[in-house]
Amino acid sequence: MRPEDALALLRWQIAIGADEALAEEPIDRTAARPPASPVAPIPAAAPAVLRAVVPPAAAGSSAREAAAAAGSVEELRAALAAFEGCALKKTATNLVFGDGDPTADVMLVGEAPGADEDRLGKPFVGVSGQLLDRMLQAIGLDRRTAYITNILPWRPPGNRKPTAAEIALCLPFVRRHIELVAPRLLVCVGGTAASALLDRNEGIMKLRGRVLQYHTDNDNKTIDTICIFHPAFLLRSPGQKREAWRDLLTIRRRLNISD
Ligand code: URA
Repeated sequence: MRPEDALALLRWQIAIGADEALAEEPIDRTAARPPASPVAPIPAAAPAVLRAVVPPAAAGSSAREAAAAAGSVEELRAALAAFEGCALKKTATNLVFGDGDPTADVMLVGEAPGADEDRLGKPFVGVSGQLLDRMLQAIGLDRRTAYITNILPWRPPGNRKPTAAEIALCLPFVRRHIELVAPRLLVCVGGTAASALLDRNEGIMKLRGRVLQYHTDNDNKTIDTICIFHPAFLLRSPGQKREAWRDLLTIRRRLNISD
């Protein structure tokens, strides 16, 4: 292949969102295949799936053990940085652990880092993060008075939706994170965080608009929880901003923030 064709192909892949290399070695799909046997069909080429370093069952128990052993937010960050059980770590640039004041009264949990968050190692710093900042500001909060994290600490390649297996694997870390921050109020930002943390099947339309209870694992506490629309959804559906504002006012009232 001529270099300029290879470059054009790379540009096209980036344009369609294929911006991560998922295997150590490239696969030459144009290479000649062995001739087909008349009896046994040739199996389809295996997809380039990246395997986690630790097999899934072992990864699940090592996640639970590592999370439970963390006695502080900083220890939890170190435990996540050392955790090798999640394949997303391989494709991510940075661990996106949390931002804000870990002693804040309110903790927000989003879905997963996007490209900007991955690049900077901080949650909600891209376009939807800027809207989240404006939403917080509207009720007298900011990153000095709130704490923000995500269900997944590593970016799913190409910003795809997290899989159920990835969420289940990372859940012990985010649950321990909530326990260590011990907020007065938990805010699930979007449906993925809401259903993962509250273990409920209803969508965000049903879960928002009321105060629910989150149950911690180890210290048997309940934390008042409010689910809000994800800012990325609000950017696509501005007609929902009226409901979003109602939810923000509920957060403000719960935190006794005055106008
Ligand atoms: N969306 C999220 O859910 N989290 C981020 O950190 C950024 C975008």
